[in-house]
Amino acid sequence: MGQERRVMLKLALWLLTSGAMVVKAADNPCAAGPPVDTNPAECCPTPMLMDGTIMMDCYQKYGEQTKKQLQMEGIPRGCCIAECAMNATNMYADGMLKRDDLSKMFMDAVKDKPEWMSLVRDATNACFELAEKKKDEIEAGAKLEPSFEGEKICHPISGTVLRCMGMMMFAQCPASIFNVNDNCNKLREYGSMCPMI
Ligand SMILES: *[C@@H]1O[C@H](CO)[C@@H](O)[C@H](O)[C@H]1NC(C)=O
Repeated sequence: MGQERRVMLKLALWLLTSGAMVVKAADNPCAAGPPVDTNPAECCPTPMLMDGTIMMDCYQKYGEQTKKQLQMEGIPRGCCIAECAMNATNMYADGMLKRDDLSKMFMDAVKDKPEWMSLVRDATNACFELAEKKKDEIEAGAKLEPSFEGEKICHPISGTVLRCMGMMMFAQCPASIFNVNDNCNKLREYGSMCPMI
């Protein structure tokens, strides 16, 4: 498998699971991570909403710090991979995403994939609503101080929306695309239950 593809797959998995990993309660069904090590992309090849080269650049810059941050307790830290990508596409400024421009960019990304269009449109609305509901936590995350050498603090809005999009698309993967088998079914069950916690 090529380097680029491997990085993208790691990223997809991270987008899918990181929302769950920060919660560590014993009775949390998400705490242990995905129940199978099947790659989500094998179950549902979700479309790339952001430019792949940009995502890879940003992952290379902030992948290590992001992994470290996900292990930390407390107020969730903003994802710099996501913010870096939003910056590169000019979608982020002053603690806010340009919702209309971003919606348009997401729709452009699926313009040749009719089976994804309504899903992406609905997911975009749902994810901005989610960000609105989590506003206090997001604002608190933006005000955190670096807790280790070289940590860059990013505003959590970009990661919240991007991660939400990934989870929504996977959880609602069109039947014509979803690869039905035991592992994929388990993964989908996990993916639709864990994100919103
Ligand atoms: C994104 O751009 C803002 C300026 O608008 C900057 O403060 C921030 O550090 C940038 N984030 C990343 C991850 O480069």
